[in-house]
Amino acid sequence: MLSLFLGGLYLSFNSGGFRSDVYESNAVNWAGGGTQAAAPVDPKVVGKRLYSQNCVVCHQASGQGVAGQFPPLAGSEWVNGSAKHGENHLVLLMLHGHQGPMNVMGGAYNNAMPQWKQLSDDQIAAVLTYIRSDWGNNAPAIDPAFVAGIRSEHKDQSDPWTQSQLMAMPPASGDKAAPKK
Ligand code: HEC
Repeated sequence: MLSLFLGGLYLSFNSGGFRSDVYESNAVNWAGGGTQAAAPVDPKVVGKRLYSQNCVVCHQASGQGVAGQFPPLAGSEWVNGSAKHGENHLVLLMLHGHQGPMNVMGGAYNNAMPQWKQLSDDQIAAVLTYIRSDWGNNAPAIDPAFVAGIRSEHKDQSDPWTQSQLMAMPPASGDKAAPKK
């Protein structure tokens, strides 16, 4: 069907000089492109694109950050989780940003992370799922429904968080039901 349709297009634009060899090679290329576009969307692919657009300038393509200024995401306890760092903390710092002192992998930072609440729940889940899967990180995907729950629970938050505010909240993960309000 596709090659017939494109063949028709080709003919209508080139009705004067039809050449079967050109027609064949065009039809094959176009059909290949069409098949790729129909593939299901992988959150990690979308997340990687969002990362390149929004995060790479500070945290770098390597996920290593910039010493003393922008903390690493590769190996980070904030990204991958730890006994103290829950997925709720990660989602909150994405939604509203962070300012002031922050400890990451034993290093001290004192800078500012912008807020990203303008991104949709799906986009936040995708970029977090991506950063939890690259550079040797291997943590479970973040569920958009978990992001939605955290967003609504903290809908009145306008200031960026501080580390002590975040760490005062008990760690929670998307495995448990998203907080309801
Ligand atoms: C303008 C620079 C900047 C941009 C852009 C930025 N960040 Fe950050 N990010 C920071 C800084 C600085 C911190 C540390 C917080 C502080 O110093 O208060 C941080 C902290 C973090 C942390 C927790 C600490 C760690 O290293 O694990 C995560 C996770 C994170 N950022 C993810 C992201 C993601 C995902 C994006 C893109 C959607 C992003 N950041 C965009 C500057 C930035």
